[in-house]
Amino acid sequence: MLPLEIGYSRRFCNPMSRDIDALTSWTLKHLRDRWWDARWTRWVSSHLRCDPGETLIHVGCGNGEVDVALALATPGLRVVSVDIHAPRARHTRDLGLDVGVRLAALAGDLRALPVAPGSADAVLCIGVLQHVGDPEAAAHTLAGLVRPGGRVLVVEPDLEACYWYSASPAGMRAWTLGRDTLARWHHAERPEMPRRLGVHVVSWLRDAGLDPLSVEPLAVPEARLGAPPPGVWEARERRLAAAASAPARIADAPALAAALAAYQADADRQGAAFVEVQHALLLATLAQRPAP
Ligand SMILES: C[S@@+](CC[C@H](N)C(=O)[O-])C[C@H]1O[C@@H](n2cnc3c(N)ncnc32)[C@H](O)[C@@H]1O
Repeated sequence: MLPLEIGYSRRFCNPMSRDIDALTSWTLKHLRDRWWDARWTRWVSSHLRCDPGETLIHVGCGNGEVDVALALATPGLRVVSVDIHAPRARHTRDLGLDVGVRLAALAGDLRALPVAPGSADAVLCIGVLQHVGDPEAAAHTLAGLVRPGGRVLVVEPDLEACYWYSASPAGMRAWTLGRDTLARWHHAERPEMPRRLGVHVVSWLRDAGLDPLSVEPLAVPEARLGAPPPGVWEARERRLAAAASAPARIADAPALAAALAAYQADADRQGAAFVEVQHALLLATLAQRPAP
C-alpha cells in the first residue's frame, strides 16, 4: 500500500500547479506536486536506501522541493540535482541554501548528463521520460548511472488509465475535447511515445542490466463536490492558454476556451449539486544493479 496523502500544506509547492487536472495536462506533469509529502519522502528514501555520504542523482529535478526533502531526510546524503532547464537547477540550489542544505545542482540533458557513469549510489527520476523523444534510451542512460548494488527508482504515468466524470454534460464535452486535443498535440510532437509509458520501464531497466525489485501503482484520485471557485477556472484557463500558445496549436485555442467557459457556466448553475471526479495512475519501478 502506498503512502499517498493529499494535502495542501507543503511549504515548497507552487500553488498554481497543485491541481490534478487531466482536463488541461496530457502528460499529468502537474500530478506530482499534488501528492509529495513527508510520507512519500520516507517511502522514496526507504526504497532507494541511501546512507549518509552516498550520492543520489535526481534527474529532472524540477523546482527542487523533492531534493530538499530527501536531503533533509538523510543528513549527509549528497544530492546531485539535474534539470534540462538551467533556471530550475538554479532554483533547486537556492531552495537548498534557503534551508541550509547544500545541493549539487546542474543544468543538463538526461541524454548527455555531466555525470560519470556508475558514479551514483542511487538514481531518482519522476515524470521525465514522458518528455524525452526516446524514453527507452533514456531509461538505459539512467541505469548506467548507478554503481553495482545501486538502485534506480523511476515514476511515470500510464495515460490509458485516466478516468474522468463530471455531473455537467458541458463538463463531459470539455473533457472529451481536451483529452482528444491534448493527445493530438502530444502525438504530433512525440509519435513514438507509448501511452502506457509507466508499464514499460521495468523491461527497459532489465534490458539495461538491472534487476527489477518492484513495480507499484500510485493511484492519484481527485473529487470535487460543489461548483469549483473562480480560481480553479482561472488556473484551467491559464494552463490551456499556455499549452495552446505554440503556433501549431493556436487554432485549437478558441474551441478549448469556449468548452471551458461553457463548463464553468454549467457547474455554477449546478452549484452545490456539482460533482467532478478524476483519477490517474503512475507506476513506480524500482530496480538494482547486481552486485559483483
Ligand atoms: C514533471 S517535472 C518533474 C520534476 C521532479 N522530478 C519532481 O518530481 O518534482 C519534469 C522535469 O524534467 C525536466 N526535464 C525534461 N526533459 C529533461 C531532460 N531531457 N533532461 C533533464 N531534465 C528534463 C523538466 O525540465 C522538468 O523540470
